[in-house]
Amino acid sequence: MRLLVTGGCGFIGSNFVRWVLANHPEDEILNLDKLTYAGNPENLREIATYPGYGFQKGDISNSEDVAEAFSWSPDAVVNFAAETHVDRSIASPEAFVTTDVLGTYRLLEQARQREIRFLQISTDEVYGSIEQGSFNEESPLQPNSPYSASKAGADLLVRSYVRTYGLDAVIVRSSNNYGPFQYPEKVIPLFLTNLIEGRKVPLYGEGKNVRDWLYVQDNCRAIDTVLRQGVRGEVYNIGGGHELTNVALTDAILEAMEAGRDSIQFVPDRLGHDLRYSVDTSKIKSLGWEPEHDFQAGLRETAAWYKAHEDWWRPLKSGEFRRYYLEKYGDI
Ligand SMILES: NC(=O)c1ccc[n+]([C@@H]2O[C@H](COP(=O)([O-])OP(=O)(O)OC[C@H]3O[C@@H](n4cnc5c(N)ncnc54)[C@H](O)[C@@H]3O)[C@@H](O)[C@H]2O)c1
Repeated sequence: MRLLVTGGCGFIGSNFVRWVLANHPEDEILNLDKLTYAGNPENLREIATYPGYGFQKGDISNSEDVAEAFSWSPDAVVNFAAETHVDRSIASPEAFVTTDVLGTYRLLEQARQREIRFLQISTDEVYGSIEQGSFNEESPLQPNSPYSASKAGADLLVRSYVRTYGLDAVIVRSSNNYGPFQYPEKVIPLFLTNLIEGRKVPLYGEGKNVRDWLYVQDNCRAIDTVLRQGVRGEVYNIGGGHELTNVALTDAILEAMEAGRDSIQFVPDRLGHDLRYSVDTSKIKSLGWEPEHDFQAGLRETAAWYKAHEDWWRPLKSGEFRRYYLEKYGDI
């Protein structure tokens, strides 16, 4: 299969590219990535010269860049490209609308003309917050941040292309991912790298928010399952089955790093912070997928990876990131 992967230099995208090339050596991949602050070619350094892999620097919201990528004649598109950080969407939403909504539209238009499979990488955040129970794929979309609203907008466009034009599209909505190559603004790598640097970890509000944690490798296998077996027009939730309050997550990180609770610095809560996300994953399990990584083991592996890859994350935490961090949390 010839796969056009967008955002393949980001966290999940780069893990997915590596996963596909290892598990489907007959496949070829073209990676279209704008290389924003979150996109890092280093994430794919070891496969950059692999014969089945190609890279195009380009923006999914730019119709010429998208047309050039589609002239490679892919059999399918997997759209990871997005602005992804909720806090940044609260501070400046425009890039989220441009990439996550307009960018998805540009890709859909090309996919429709070429009648190829389209896999949209969405998020459990589109359902909004739920105090008890779990959302299934029929639950209404009630996004609460500019990030999740942009992702929901993209999901609805995908749905409309299925209903209106008969596009062969599927959507996956996963919970929070963790693992190697995650940009250190996200909570797990931020906390791990702060502890390595001898800093405190900034915990929002009272730390009562609940998130489900999914090891990125498990997500890559789930995405691949839906790409190859998912039914046209269907949505599939993906979750790790490891729900934790942010305090419990922080305790697990402190334990993995052999640090004490005196390393916690409580900071003002995120605006409109959703209390709990939870998805029912029985539908994807009916395709034969199950998460394989136990959370404690996955977290230990992730901690070991960040300890062994300071050369990867230290440059990312300097410059623009350092200014962003200081403005947000102060010098902690
Ligand atoms: N990380 C998670 O926990 C999580 C959970 C659920 C869903 N998702 C979704 O998975 C996808 C990937 O998330 P991630 O955490 O790997 O993101 P990331 O921020 O690590 O990477 C995003 C990638 O997209 C690229 N990109 C951004 N704007 C672009 C544009 N206009 N054109 C082309 N490339 C562009 C960036 O350069 C980067 O390589 C996103 O769609 C996100 O909404 C992520």
